Amino acid sequence: MQERLLELQQEALQKATEATELKELNDIRVAYLGKKGPITEVLRGMGKLSAEERPKIGALANDVRAAIASKIEEKQHAFETAAVNAQLASEKIDVTLPGRPVNKGNQHPLTRIVEDIEDLFIGMGYTVAEGPEVESDYYNFEALNLPKSHPARDMQDSFYITDEILMRTHTSPVQARTMEMHKGIGPVKIICPGKVYRRDNDDATHSHQFMQIEGLVIDENISMSDLKGTLEVFAKKVFGQDREIRLRPSFFPFTEPSVEIDISCKICSGKGCSVCKHTGWIEVLGGGMVHPNVLEMAGFDSKTYSGFAFGIGVERIAMLKYGVDDIRHFYTNDLRFLKQFHTHESE
Ligand code: PHE
Repeated sequence: MQERLLELQQEALQKATEATELKELNDIRVAYLGKKGPITEVLRGMGKLSAEERPKIGALANDVRAAIASKIEEKQHAFETAAVNAQLASEKIDVTLPGRPVNKGNQHPLTRIVEDIEDLFIGMGYTVAEGPEVESDYYNFEALNLPKSHPARDMQDSFYITDEILMRTHTSPVQARTMEMHKGIGPVKIICPGKVYRRDNDDATHSHQFMQIEGLVIDENISMSDLKGTLEVFAKKVFGQDREIRLRPSFFPFTEPSVEIDISCKICSGKGCSVCKHTGWIEVLGGGMVHPNVLEMAGFDSKTYSGFAFGIGVERIAMLKYGVDDIRHFYTNDLRFLKQFHTHESE
């Protein structure tokens, strides 16, 4: 019996050592340690043994079982460790690999200028108004005191789509539309940013498509000094606190009187340089007091109400602010140009 037990132990250990997967170990466990296994079989014959021998064989049988069980367990443990190691190896991440660069875009310089100017005017109680780029002759010209065949229409060469419809040549039609919506009741306080179109040959300072921001205030007792004060705030905010402005008489059909507004040259501080053509001043916008005809046409009583309007050329502001020497840079989307504006919010 003793021999048979040792033989079984030998056999089981051998098989366990040779096992290559968990399933085999389970089979060995069932085969040798199970109720129907050979060890149980051997122990069934213990009745025939003498009282002396019985405990010895009993103890040996337990040892054999324990030896087989521990071998199986050891082997099982080895399998599990190997499985975990294999998984770890397959999921290994090489943290030394350099990351892929993420190409972030940034705001277009014109968008930034428009947003900055919007913020400034919103802070002064204005609201932002928008209108269509494909506009009727009426809002683009007639409602702005430019009847058909008025010679001043020549100031703005236009892209006509039909006799009555054109690409708007300025953002002023938005003021005509907004005034009309107010049905003669003030105050009106808006700025209108947007694209405008003119039949110009593109060159360093002209583009057939560009951007304007129109400002309009209508209320009782609005005077030229309100316009001047407002534009002074604008000039200092955009170009720096030490800027000054000056107004020069000019002509626009929709304002009377009309003015051109110059800002003291930032580059030479007014001494004269090539940017300001040696005058010390740079022309940045046009404006004036809203013409009574424009007020009346939009339904406002020009005896009660007065107002001022101004038009800002966005590209011109951007060119001066950032020292850009060719307007076409804003529209040709050369990344080397655009990436130079990679700062603040977009950083
Ligand atoms: N609309 C004018 C232009 O495009 C600018 C302007 C606006 C002038 C408002 C006066 C008042 O030339």
